[in-house]
Order: sequence, then C-alpha cells, then structure tokens
Amino acid sequence: MTSRKKIIVKEVPIEEVVKVNRTIKEFEPYEKEYFEKNVLRLVIVAYVGGQPAGYIVGYDKFKDGSFYCWMAGVNPKFRRMGVMKALMSYQEKWAKKNGYNKIKIKTRNNRREMLSYLIKYGFYIIGLTKYPDVKDNKILFERSI
Ligand SMILES: CC(C)(COP(=O)(O)OP(=O)(O)OC[C@H]1O[C@@H](n2cnc3c(N)ncnc32)[C@H](O)[C@@H]1OP(=O)(O)O)[C@@H](O)C(=O)NCCC(=O)NCCS
Repeated sequence: MTSRKKIIVKEVPIEEVVKVNRTIKEFEPYEKEYFEKNVLRLVIVAYVGGQPAGYIVGYDKFKDGSFYCWMAGVNPKFRRMGVMKALMSYQEKWAKKNGYNKIKIKTRNNRREMLSYLIKYGFYIIGLTKYPDVKDNKILFERSI
C-alpha cells in the first residue's frame, strides 16, 4: 500500500522561500532582495512530510482587483504530488478572503508543466509578450475566483 504524505501550506518569512527557490533547477538562486523588489502580500511554502517542497509569492501588480501570482515553483524531488495544487488552492482562498476577484499569472512558453496546470485548472489566456525566441514568449493567464 502506498501512503500519501500530507501537504501543509504556511505563510512564511521570505528567507524560507529563498531556500526553497535554490532547489528549483529552472530558476536562478535569487537572494532575498530580488524577491523584495515587489511589495509582496503573500509568501507561502508547502511542506511535504515536514520538508519544504515548493513556494508561491504574489503581490497586487495590476491594481484591477486581481491578485498576481508572481513566482511559483516546486523542488523536482516533490513534483507530481499535488504540491502546486495545494499552494494554488491556499492562494485562491487567501485572495478571496482579502477581496480579490481574479488570479493572474504569467508563464513562459517553455514552462510546459505550468502551462498544463493552467489550462487544466481553468485559467484563460489574456495576453502575450513576444521575445526573439518563441520559447521565451510570456503568456498572461487569468481565472476568476
Ligand atoms: C509547474 C510546477 C510548479 C508543477 O508543480 P507540481 O507540484 O509538480 O504540480 P502538481 O503535482 O500540483 O500538479 C498540478 C497539475 O500540473 C500539471 N502538471 C504538473 N506536472 C506535469 C507534467 N510533468 N506533465 C504534465 N502536466 C503536469 C498537471 O495538470 C497537474 O494536474 P493533475 O495532477 O491533476 O494532472 C513544477 O513543475 C515546477 O516547479 N516547474 C519549474 C518551475 C516553473 O515552471 N514554475 C512556473 C513558472 S511561473
């Protein structure tokens, strides 16, 4: 019998996100100052069996009633276990409670897993920023909450 480890999401200091971010091979090992260049409103980490596994940081980018999910990632060791789903679900509840009516998120064309997530879980494409390499194009998604 396989046992699914419990996923717990917590609001944390930014230092915890800095640590988790370093485990995500697709991202640069950003320092605290990088994250703090925006006025973050939500800083969450998901723990699997007590170990930090993934994070989301977000802020009010557009000032149009939407909450912007700025950066999101999961340590490769903990992927495909529902960690991003747990983080997104926490974010959605938090955003609703705090008066937002939409979640917005940008992702690049080469982030195939995230694109799959966004399409599967009800986000709609509302914009595109083009780059010389088509794989770098940034796609803006939104979902009402
Ligand atoms: C995208 C990412 C955050 C997904 O995290 P995760 O914890 O593995 O995702 P979950 O297990 O919660 O899966 C959620 C959904 O994502 C999609 N998904 C995740 N990994 C996938 C894969 N390898 N292939 C296809 N779909 C995938 C599926 O729709 C899945 O839903 P399902 O299990 O009901 O089919 C993770 O792959 C990651 O950190 N990638 C690198 C960084 C990145 O691209 N971040 C987003 C940029 S904004």
